[in-house]
Parts: sequence; C-alpha cells; structure tokens
Amino acid sequence: MATQFPLTSFEGLRTPFYYYDLDLLRKTLEIIRNEARKQRVVVHYAVKANANPRILSHVQMAGLGADCVSGGEIRAALQTGFSSDKIVFAGVGKADWEINLALDHDIFCFNVESLPELEVINSLAAAKSKVARVALRINPDVQADTHHYIRTGSKENKFGINLSDLENIVESARAMSHINLVGIHFHIGSQITEMNNFAGLAARVNEIQDRLTALHWIPEHVNLGGGLGIDYHHPDEASIPDFADYFATLRRMLKLRPDQTLHVEPGRSVVGQCGSLIARVLYVKQASEKQFAILDAGMTELIRPALYQAYHKIEHISAAPAAPVQKYDVVGPICESSDCFGKEVDLPLVKRGDFIAIRSAGAYGEIMSSNYNCRPNPASYFSDDLH
Ligand code: LLP
Repeated sequence: MATQFPLTSFEGLRTPFYYYDLDLLRKTLEIIRNEARKQRVVVHYAVKANANPRILSHVQMAGLGADCVSGGEIRAALQTGFSSDKIVFAGVGKADWEINLALDHDIFCFNVESLPELEVINSLAAAKSKVARVALRINPDVQADTHHYIRTGSKENKFGINLSDLENIVESARAMSHINLVGIHFHIGSQITEMNNFAGLAARVNEIQDRLTALHWIPEHVNLGGGLGIDYHHPDEASIPDFADYFATLRRMLKLRPDQTLHVEPGRSVVGQCGSLIARVLYVKQASEKQFAILDAGMTELIRPALYQAYHKIEHISAAPAAPVQKYDVVGPICESSDCFGKEVDLPLVKRGDFIAIRSAGAYGEIMSSNYNCRPNPASYFSDDLH
C-alpha cells in the first residue's frame, strides 16, 4: 500500500509535523489480528514505539494488548481504554510508584528482570494484600543481527535474568507468598529482518523449557518479545511486514507444552510504516564539493539517524515534474554535526519551501522527539482528516 500525501492540505500547516496514514495502520492491524488468531498468538503492542493517543486508540480497537515499560505508559494505555488485564509491565528498573500503580490496576503481568526486583514486587504486593502475576524475563544469550544499540539478548546486556541463575530465581519466586509465577519472557532485539534469529531464539527457549520441566514448572505463558523489523528502503512496496511468516516460524520452531499460550510484543512492525516526518526546505546551501538541503526538521523530531546511523528513505514530495535529479546532504537545523538525515541523497531539484517526507518514521519517531534547542514538540496529522 503506497502512502499518498495530501499536498494541498499540507500547504496550510506549519512544519515539521508527523503525518500518519491511518488506512495503512488499520490494514496492518487487521492482518495482525487475523494471522494471530490463525496461529493462536496473543499480541501486546509495545507502546514505546508510538504512544500518540490516536494511534494507541486504533491499536486498542483492534483488540491488541499493551506492553508498557513505565508508569506513564501504563497510564496512557489505561486512558486509551486498554483493559488492565491486557497490560504487561516490563523494564529493567521499575520504580516503587510504578509497581504500585500496576498493582492497583491488577495488570495482567509484570515481566521481572532480577531477584531484587522480584523481592520488591513481593513486598509491595504484600502491603496491598495482593498477589502479583509475574513472568521472568530471561536473557537467552542469543545474538540478533541488528545494530548493537538495539540488541538486547546477549549476556553482556543489562536485560533479563542470566541463564546461570535460572533455577535459583524460579525457586525463590515460588517461595514468595505474594508472587504468582505465570510465565517466561524474552526479547533479543529490535529491527530483526532475518527469521532465523527468531528460530534461534525459539530453539533456545526449548532448551530453557526442558530445564524448567526438570523443576516441575510449566509456565502458562511464553512471551517471545518484539523485534520484527520493517523494510526502511521500500516503505510503499513493503508497507506491511510478513506477520504470517513471523507467527508461523515461532509456532513451528517452538515446542510449546499443551495449554501454553504464545505471546509477542511487536512495536515497530505495527506502526513503523504508517508514519512520515514532513518537513520543508529552509535553504539550499552550496558548499565547495556538495550542496546541503537544510530542513526545518532535525534530530529533535527524528533522532534515529543521529543515534543509530539509521537509514530512512527521503522523498521530495512536491518536486516539479521532470525536475533534474541532484545530490544533496539532507540536514536539520540543530547545532550538532550528527543532525543529518542522509548524505549524497539523489533528489529531484530542491528549492526553498519544498516538502520533504522522511519515511518509515511511525515507530520511535514522534515518541523519541526532544525539546533540545527549546524546540516545540512536532504536531501530528492523520490521513482521515486531510484530503
Ligand atoms: N519488548 C521489549 C522487551 C522491548 O525492549 C522492545 C523494544 C519491544 C518489545 C518492541 O520491539 P520492536 O518490535 O519495536 O522491535 N529506539 C530504537 C528501538 C528500541 C527498541 C527497544 N525495545 C529504534 O529506534 O530503533
């Protein structure tokens, strides 16, 4: 599905802003729903990818749960209308107030990453005479093929319980009176495009399950986290990731025991392709060996290129027909050299006032924007409202 940009409506809007293609989001959610039903997978959307209220509300209406990593995200999910029994709470450092908030709302499950965290949840739950439902996040020591900043499943990462502590922590958790151990949880990283990474994770989970069986524990819930990548090079041709293949790979590789439920928590793959950052060209600056297209959007609106050297397709969406193609370094206005969206980008002739779309920015775009240089938060507009 190709996103169409309503340029005439854009004319009256102050840039930069995020533009969301809601038809694409709805279609993506429908596919997730159908494939998940077929393959019996429970899906919790990773709110961290995009917590725009309108986006969250579409996700909620499609019946997905919410995977939250802070008290703020739990509040956002509740405000959107996610029922608390569809909320999971993950994160390596949960503060007491966040744990208490989750306990007060009787959320579905805490994904717990360490023994000290487990002890705190147990005592806070005891103080409320509640029993917290807990899944243990285990670090599977599986390397994912992705940028090292967003790789989480190998043993040098801060995430999850070390495999060598597995038996001890399971025994400790079972001895705690206010903990109900209901599942195991994993996440090996983000923007993973090779299915064999997930197959590798599933194989490791099978080994872990055997160790748990030896302890006479069969977790009800097995959560393999998020991580399914999107095609940043082809936002229109590959607008919807292959959820059928993803779910089928997990199902095929994982040896689930009878009555176990498989969970995933995708973020990027749900919302990544439906969002674009729309900017205007402020100046075209000629330098000795290159020319710069200086935009009114920068790393404050989309930090991914500066932070992870991430590629986003850059499109000149108001180009004159048959304009000659030239090379530009496409940069933002922020006082940092890393404030660059792309070097030597081929674009049809660019001039002041032209519209540029930075594609595949629906995930980890708007939500990671900052107020550096006292810049305001970007606005967001939706295809349903602009024609
Ligand atoms: N579950 C857990 C435990 C996670 O840590 C994450 C992402 C997800 C699920 C969702 O992963 P996804 O399906 O979106 O890959 N800011 C980075 C990505 C950070 C991902 C952090 N954790 C970026 O812009 O690429």
